[in-house]
This record gives sequence, C-alpha cells and structure tokens, in this order.
Amino acid sequence: MDIAFSILLVGHFIGLAAIVGPFLLQMRANENFAITSMFYGAITQLVTGIGMMGLAEPLDRDIDYVKIAVKLVIAIGVFAAALLGWMRARKGANDRDIKPFFHAAGGLALVNVILAVFW
Ligand code: HEM
Repeated sequence: MDIAFSILLVGHFIGLAAIVGPFLLQMRANENFAITSMFYGAITQLVTGIGMMGLAEPLDRDIDYVKIAVKLVIAIGVFAAALLGWMRARKGANDRDIKPFFHAAGGLALVNVILAVFW
C-alpha cells in the first residue's frame, strides 16, 4: 500500500507541475494561455490528493486534517477557476476573458504549495 501512496504522490507532483509550470511561463503573457494543462492538473490534484487521504488512515500516516481541509478548499478554487477558463477557451472566447481565470488558478495553486510546505 506504501507503493500506491508513493505513486499517488508522484501524480500529485505532476499535477502540480501542470498547473504551476504554465503559470510561471505565461505569467506576463496576454494570449495562448495553457489553460487545458491547468484544468487537467487541477483534476489530478483533487484525485491524487483525495486518493492519498484514503490511504493515509490504513497506512497510519501522520496527517494534519485541518491543513488538508484548507488545501481541499483552495484546490476546489483552483479547479473552479481552471474549469471556467477552460470552458471559455473551448467556446473560442478571447484571451482577455481567459486571463483572470488563468491567474486565479495559478495563484491559488502557488498558495497551496506554500501551505503544503510551511504549515
Ligand atoms: C492545487 C492543489 C494542490 C497543491 C498545489 C498541492 C501541493 C502539495 C505538495 C507540494 C505536496 C508535497 C509536500 C508535502 O508532503 O506536504 C503535497 C502533498 C500532499 N497533498 Fe497536496 N496539493 C494540492 C491539493 C491537495 C488536495 C485537494 C489534497 C487532499 C484532499 C491533498 C493532499 C495531500 C497529501 C495527503 C499529501 C502528502 C502529505 C504527506 O506525505 O504527509 N493535496 N501537496
């Protein structure tokens, strides 16, 4: 079961990269936002994070539930922003309409990284 947890944690880091990577690369951009990568990254964070929580109890891992609850709320915010931006991009909205969602998703994900490490 330890290996399953580790695989989910690797997925968690890949999902994190899929959100924060495009954000850092395109922070100053005004067009062609990689919102699809962020959207799939946000889904990955929720699935792998919740999966790890499911395994934490049987594996007897020391988990701070308050921290995880706060991370979950922020991750839902990341998902909502990425979803709204992704839906707009699919409908062919112009880049100016996608930009706020791109920044909200990337900024909130960065907040979650800081929380994960410093809390
Ligand atoms: C955008 C969303 C998220 C980001 C950027 C993120 C970031 C991180 C990072 C950087 C780590 C490694 C550092 C550490 O071990 O504390 C981590 C671990 C972890 N995250 Fe997340 N996370 C997100 C969402 C979630 C969600 C929604 C959950 C669960 C509901 C979750 C549960 C966990 C768990 C269980 C660990 C492993 C902790 C351990 O090994 O002790 N994460 N996360």
